[in-house]
Amino acid sequence: MPRNLFESSHPLVRHKLTILRDKDTKPKKFRELIREISILLAYEATRDLMLESASVESPMGPASGALLREKIGLVPVLRAGLGMVEGVWEMMPGSEVWHIGLFRDERTLKPVQYYNKLPVAPTVQVCIVLDPMLATGGSAAATVDILKEWGAERIKFMGIIAAPEGIKTLHDSHPDVDIHIGVVDEKLNDIGYIVPGLGDAGDRQFGTG
Ligand code: PRP
Ligand code: URA
Repeated sequence: MPRNLFESSHPLVRHKLTILRDKDTKPKKFRELIREISILLAYEATRDLMLESASVESPMGPASGALLREKIGLVPVLRAGLGMVEGVWEMMPGSEVWHIGLFRDERTLKPVQYYNKLPVAPTVQVCIVLDPMLATGGSAAATVDILKEWGAERIKFMGIIAAPEGIKTLHDSHPDVDIHIGVVDEKLNDIGYIVPGLGDAGDRQFGTG
């Protein structure tokens, strides 16, 4: 496994993941869990963000502190990445959110892009790609391709469940991208689903299964 793969061992993540996987968990609860797990993962994924010194006046007098130095871009991959935005954005309300629309062709398992409104020049220094599932890795690698073509300099990937195959694909094509994951599962099945996984993350969030 790559050195810049970070798999959570946090008890809250493990607890919430277990309920998330449960086939009887309904969309409302599923969305809450995606949101909560994303916040916990973001805590780790943002550990190396740069700070600059800042001073403020507290009611008791001057206090020295630090504020985020870089502009952060949250990049949810539609649809399933949408559920990860809200919680992470609450933690970093100054972030910009740039949506990328991709779906996986069910026959070829290759990503197909259908939405991208990135402006001509990059407006952020750090991009955090949000997508709960890293299966074959095709969608994640294609998203990073898009962001690099845009000119993004630092890119991180944050997901909830990964297959070893997806980690390899993403890392082989973009070794500079840190991968933050809730858990690494066993394998992909013959139709490209993560096992044991949780099924279709988009359908389970939006009740469309
Ligand atoms: C899912 C998931 C990822 C992709 C992962 O999206 O959210 O984007 O599949 O698969 P990969 O690693 O093999 O590319 P999906 O294409 O099902 O679209 P949806 O989010 O709109 O349901
Ligand atoms: N997309 C999903 O939503 N689930 C998988 O297991 C694989 C791809």
